[in-house]
Amino acid sequence: MLKLIVANWKLNPTVEKEAVRLARAVDTKGVVLCPPFPFLAAVKGRVKKGVLGAQDVFWEGSGAYTGEVSGEMLHELGAKYAIVGHSERRMHLGETDEMVGKKCAAALRTRITPILCVGEPLAVRRKGTAAVLRYVRRQLAVAVRYIPKNLRRSIVVAYEPIWAIGTGIPCHVFEAERMVKACAAFLVIKEKFRNVHGLYGGSVSGQNAKSYLDAEYIDGLLVGGASLRAEEFKKIVAAGR
Ligand code: PGA
Repeated sequence: MLKLIVANWKLNPTVEKEAVRLARAVDTKGVVLCPPFPFLAAVKGRVKKGVLGAQDVFWEGSGAYTGEVSGEMLHELGAKYAIVGHSERRMHLGETDEMVGKKCAAALRTRITPILCVGEPLAVRRKGTAAVLRYVRRQLAVAVRYIPKNLRRSIVVAYEPIWAIGTGIPCHVFEAERMVKACAAFLVIKEKFRNVHGLYGGSVSGQNAKSYLDAEYIDGLLVGGASLRAEEFKKIVAAGR
């Protein structure tokens, strides 16, 4: 199976021309490019082999919600995926598991596959693996309450420990695989999702990507910083082939 490599550009690049240039440079099969909202249309025009993703999605389809963007709008723009519940949104914008669950449901309703992000802070990691498992399972369990049974089709779950994001301190492969596997198993066995893919994210680089992609239960990667450097990102993609 082709591994899924998701590029989370976050609030980058700053101008459309750069976004288009980057998209053109890294456009490959199996890649999901998630530019900032204002660049989605321009990037869509350049992506031929890969697919387009959004970095967020709102849970309502229309109405008095200043600043929000709906799944319908993203679908119309050609987005196939939407990142939901990234730890930066949980931290800076106060997103809760409830909001994350509603966003996943909205994505699924509009034929967009959610990339549901979960992961523990360092304080929890320090308590050991049982605490980490409890923390992440709870994030999933609460979010999933807002996803009706009939929408539980395809979902991507990304295990991203907060202490590994943007720090240059990646999670050990053994541990990352164990968590990705646990998340996917929870969604399939306990919550009856039909089609679940598990990703790892957090300080993925051209150097370490292959070790994750060689792991049986890791179906792909969610890449932040390294996805902004075309050559480095291409190395990551190549590691999955
Ligand atoms: P990073 O970010 O690759 O820069 O650590 C990952 C993410 O935030 O998804």
